[in-house]
Amino acid sequence: MPNIQATMTPSHTPCEELKPDGCGIIIFGASGDLVYRKLMPALFNLYVRQLMPEKFYILGFARTEMSDDDFRERARKALTDAHKNSEAHIIDSFLSHCRYTSGDYNNIEAYRQLQKKASICECDYTKKENKLFYLALPPQLHSTVVSRLSQSGLTVEGDKGNPWARVVFEKPFGHDLQSALDLDNHLCSMLNPSQIFRIDHYLGKETVQSILMLRFANIMFEPLWNEKFIDNIQITVAESVGVGHRGGYYEQAGCLRDMFQNHMLQMLSLVTMEPPTRFEAEYVQNERVKLLKAIRPWSERTLKDNIVRAQYTAGEINHEAVQDYRQEANIDPDSITESFVAMKLYIDNWRWQGVPIYLRSGKRMHMRESEIAVTFKRVPYSLFGFESQHEMPANILVMKIQPNEGVDLTIHTKQPGPKSCMASLSLSFKYSEVFDVAPQDAYERLLLDCMLGDRTLFLSSEGVEAAWTIIDPILNFWRNYPEKSPLQTYKAGSWGPKASDDLLLRNGHQWR
Ligand code: NDP
Ligand code: BG6
Repeated sequence: MPNIQATMTPSHTPCEELKPDGCGIIIFGASGDLVYRKLMPALFNLYVRQLMPEKFYILGFARTEMSDDDFRERARKALTDAHKNSEAHIIDSFLSHCRYTSGDYNNIEAYRQLQKKASICECDYTKKENKLFYLALPPQLHSTVVSRLSQSGLTVEGDKGNPWARVVFEKPFGHDLQSALDLDNHLCSMLNPSQIFRIDHYLGKETVQSILMLRFANIMFEPLWNEKFIDNIQITVAESVGVGHRGGYYEQAGCLRDMFQNHMLQMLSLVTMEPPTRFEAEYVQNERVKLLKAIRPWSERTLKDNIVRAQYTAGEINHEAVQDYRQEANIDPDSITESFVAMKLYIDNWRWQGVPIYLRSGKRMHMRESEIAVTFKRVPYSLFGFESQHEMPANILVMKIQPNEGVDLTIHTKQPGPKSCMASLSLSFKYSEVFDVAPQDAYERLLLDCMLGDRTLFLSSEGVEAAWTIIDPILNFWRNYPEKSPLQTYKAGSWGPKASDDLLLRNGHQWR
């Protein structure tokens, strides 16, 4: 399909990034994967962009024994891997803000040592007591760490939140609805709601954030954004990677908990929620929650017919052989954990009545590609040679989340020539081509927002509960009636099992 590229007219919207007040960033699990792959590179990028506070320190904490220098060296390797062109002296300057202390997460004495080290850092760097605690830890440790932090007085805030103490929690928030509620009750007994930052890193992705701007800053979409004009919505998050070194976690979690309870449902809520009256945390979070609560509850029939779970078998991706899920490290050789889920659901409100919404996500799929495709209804009557209106191609708006971030709108036009022949073409733009800066990493946005105290892109406790309310019945159904929802297989490198295509075919649709 021909592609028409966009050009950019500079906008006059004031767009100044704020710089946070001086603070310490105290990272729990500072020997782990997330810290080196995501958090340190994101903090470094903020530093390069001069968005870190004037005065800050990063204090790593974990059981692994390391000196400050060992921690800096590990971080240096991560930064040079992530930012190949960075100059050594800028990395040195960033690393000079980093320190480390080791201890057991359950040992109160370790928190006293941590407090001492934080006080030294405050004298050396910030002269302020603001603290951001980042729990980059397996979720079973969250309660323990918060209890110990609270017992040691580290989370006490000053008058009117000055100095502040905030705690960032990585997903997953619980294993099911009840454990999520228990965790939440525990956190709320130790911290004020304003101190709790629950991360869903998809909400920090530039293209996910731009969903709201596309919808609510352009008058032409919103009048059509309802059941009268939209035929179906599809959200795909396809990954070509497998479980990597996270087999132990993934085998317990599975794709439904890992991707749907959070990222997929959050993207769905942004695409379908009502406009918030203000672009502020409480307003945006409330609309997201309202939408999740409007998702039609499952019945035994829809649990059986509208959800597909599958696991990959050996295959090939990019001409490289890929092994069976059950042969991956730390995976049970008889595993019945799903690495792929597809589902059809409906939203019971005036705007979306009857519009099928299809979600799919999986590992070891054909390629890495995440997008949201909104297919509009066809025109009511065909003038241009098609025998019926049903043969007319539809308009499709595709929000490309990654890797080629952009927007694509399929429209139809007349082909040049004497006859009235129609051609479909795509009006599209890619962020990387239109803007001269690469989209920032999600963690950059989210870490900056935590330091600024802006919770708009974070999950509320009601949001977590509403998402589990949708996911819990599926987990129970799978557990109690495995024969009614058998685990399918799909070849690594494919787009998933046939049952996932059949799910759409039943409504006369197909994956884009
Ligand atoms: P890791 O498994 O690498 O664990 C982080 C650190 O926690 C480890 O280095 C280890 O440090 C400590 N730890 C691990 N297991 C235990 C245990 N059983 N008991 C005590 N300490 C333990 O986790 P990740 O860095 O991958 O993830 C951290 C958090 O971020 C998790 O909640 C994860 O779900 C979430 N997340 C991770 C992503 C990723 O891509 N990695 C993506 C999105 C979310 P030490 O032994 O030194 O104390
Ligand atoms: C994480 C999941 O939350 O998101 C991973 O735990 C998944 O399994 C990852 O690979 C995908 O994130 P991204 O940003 O790479 O699309």
